[in-house]
Amino acid sequence: MRQSLVVGNWKMNGSIQSNQSLLEALKAGMSTVKNSEVAVCPPFIYLQQVSEILKDTAIGWGGQTLSEQDSGAFTGEVSANMLLDFHSKYVIVGHSERRSLYAESDQLVAEKFAKAQAAGLIPILCVGELLEQREAGETENVVKRQLDAVVNSQGIAALSNSVIAYEPVWAIGTGKTASPAQAQDVHAFIRQQIAAQDVNVAEKVQILYGGSVKANNAAELFAMQDIDGGLIGGASLQAEDFLTICQAG
Ligand code: PGA
Repeated sequence: MRQSLVVGNWKMNGSIQSNQSLLEALKAGMSTVKNSEVAVCPPFIYLQQVSEILKDTAIGWGGQTLSEQDSGAFTGEVSANMLLDFHSKYVIVGHSERRSLYAESDQLVAEKFAKAQAAGLIPILCVGELLEQREAGETENVVKRQLDAVVNSQGIAALSNSVIAYEPVWAIGTGKTASPAQAQDVHAFIRQQIAAQDVNVAEKVQILYGGSVKANNAAELFAMQDIDGGLIGGASLQAEDFLTICQAG
């Protein structure tokens, strides 16, 4: 039985004040979350605040991306070790917004994945197809290509210390959720791809669903056999909604 995991991706949202109330409310509500691990990924600049408020709680935290470099003249970048300085546990890599808005290639995503893992962070590798790719019947090819970029360079065993998030791009921030059956199909496909190389890794790896997960649809998604929790954008900014989603895990 895989442990369920629910991760809030705050994206570029928050303020010192709003973070404080959100985190205090999450802390207070955690006793109602029985089955799920929980983490939040704030903008880098708030990691210090998040780490102070969440220390000694069951809620973990991490970055939304990281540099593929260790240190040096890379203006604006943040390294794996910097994330570790603030006791991050996770880091999201290859989110579709990074791929599309900041031109991150499969190759770069694989380098970031490797850098995160080498430092001891748990990468949350995002994969998912665009609407036109789904309509063209390309979903499995796209997801396989994104997965293979990491597996071919890092080896299948690397996935056992990682989390995968299936996030159909057409469902992110659009209010359009994949149906539980649509999501399950792709999750099962991902697990089969991994199982073809290593059954144990396939059984172990958590595969989260992301894309307009809300308080009112989380339970039916998370009930599917190969869905092990969620990566939550918009709904992770509201404590009550996020806690309801965590309870569904
Ligand atoms: P959303 O975002 O829940 O707002 O659709 C999910 C994500 O991008 O991780």
